[in-house]
Amino acid sequence: MTKGIVITLEGPDGAGKTSVLEGILPLLEAELSQRIMTTREPGGVAISEKIREIILDPINTAMDNKTELLLYIAARRQHMVEKVLPALEEGALVLIDRFIDSSVAYQGAGRGLDKKDIKWLNSFATDGIVPDLTLYFDVPSQVGLARIAKSKDREVNRLDLEQLEMHQKVRSGYLELAQENPKRIVTIDASQTLDQVITETVKIIKEQLR
Ligand code: TYD
Repeated sequence: MTKGIVITLEGPDGAGKTSVLEGILPLLEAELSQRIMTTREPGGVAISEKIREIILDPINTAMDNKTELLLYIAARRQHMVEKVLPALEEGALVLIDRFIDSSVAYQGAGRGLDKKDIKWLNSFATDGIVPDLTLYFDVPSQVGLARIAKSKDREVNRLDLEQLEMHQKVRSGYLELAQENPKRIVTIDASQTLDQVITETVKIIKEQLR
């Protein structure tokens, strides 16, 4: 048993969870005495950041779906061993931007790989560690995609629209996970303003820690 606490942030692209993480961090640091560590997947440590480069490199169009899954799992394992587990041993509050549920939502619901296999691989990579709390930032697919397009300062193009189906599958994967894990996963309406989402997120985390 480890002494720390793991809280993960999940959601489809464009949900804004990375901005939420930046926004909640100073508020939590001001109120909590325990050490807070933030990190992200895929990445977080040198080896996993290298794996991230391979996964996300647009040149790798030939990548097979199972290869993609295994790379996310490999990145997760290394990140877990090098960064997350030591912080948990020290009793830290560990906030992770994406974790096991991303693989189920993206590679399972999105790419159509067997969710049972993914759940087993997740458990293999994490030695069975499951987050104490998962914040799922839910956003309608059109809103998420529009945000991504806006942040890139351009119109929504044909490719963005093609991504709509994938985006919708990922979202339904998350909604299914939230239904399956009502105690662990708390859904937050991420179509609200960033300030509203930050306030709600801090409140939920403080309730969990109480
Ligand atoms: P990133 O630029 O970090 O996106 P975001 O800011 O939305 O987290 O890229 C990570 C991408 O990897 C994102 O599209 C989700 C995807 N992903 C998976 O498909 N499976 C996984 O297991 C993880 C951790 C991420």
